[in-house]
Amino acid sequence: MNDTPFDAMFSGVIGQDYQMLKLISPGSVEMSRQVGRAVGEFCQQSTVSVELVELGGGTGITTLSILSANERVKVLSVDNEPTMQLQAKQHLQQWAEAGRLEFCGDDALTALQAMQSDSVELVASAYTLHNFEAEYRKQVLGEIYRILKPGGWFINGDRYALNDISAHTRSTQKEVEGYFKILTKIDRLDVLEHWVIHLFSDEAENHVMRETIALQQMADSGFKQINLSHRQEVNALVTAVK
Ligand SMILES: C[S@@+](CC[C@H](N)C(=O)[O-])C[C@H]1O[C@@H](n2cnc3c(N)ncnc32)[C@H](O)[C@@H]1O
Repeated sequence: MNDTPFDAMFSGVIGQDYQMLKLISPGSVEMSRQVGRAVGEFCQQSTVSVELVELGGGTGITTLSILSANERVKVLSVDNEPTMQLQAKQHLQQWAEAGRLEFCGDDALTALQAMQSDSVELVASAYTLHNFEAEYRKQVLGEIYRILKPGGWFINGDRYALNDISAHTRSTQKEVEGYFKILTKIDRLDVLEHWVIHLFSDEAENHVMRETIALQQMADSGFKQINLSHRQEVNALVTAVK
């Protein structure tokens, strides 16, 4: 785990039982829906096919929402954790067969670095960038900007930590309380253990994606019209234009 620039936390119990997130964090499913809605909004502006790169496609929850948003969207879904991506390949086989979905198993930065500048209309993601170590995330943001066509959008539904650190801590504590209530009731202490451990990584100083700093980083990368909306506790939707 230490010789990679990211925490491969999705290979074990979390990855195998990822659908449990729907139980302990229904808001995250809603955020994937919001990412799809924003993709649909972008597509209304254009009549041609829309190339989209998805970062951290996971088991395919966000990917499905994106594919359903508009039939002109073609997705390249990037995820470097086979436990997660294999599930997406199974769930979304029909979309791949229809030629609307391809997969890449590289990590986000490596995948982006291999892509041409000004080559895609959209980059979309949910609950992935907050997992990145801060310096890695900065490089990813720069690469997202580079590969987007002028006028292209970056859409990210994610954990954007509250600027008010005390409020953020309270919100996170409430979240953990919810994990315990739900997962002890169904006797899944193994899943509980892994999500609590995972939260420590999310909240670590070199990972946490605090709202003002994150939006400033995007502005520094060149993004315009940066907008944060749909905030639900520590989660929010961010859109930005190249
Ligand atoms: C919390 S899941 C989100 C999955 C999906 N978007 C959703 O909302 O359900 C985060 C995903 O990001 C992937 N991931 C984490 N770090 C990554 C990296 N550096 N490059 C590519 N994928 C990464 C993980 O493997 C995992 O599948």
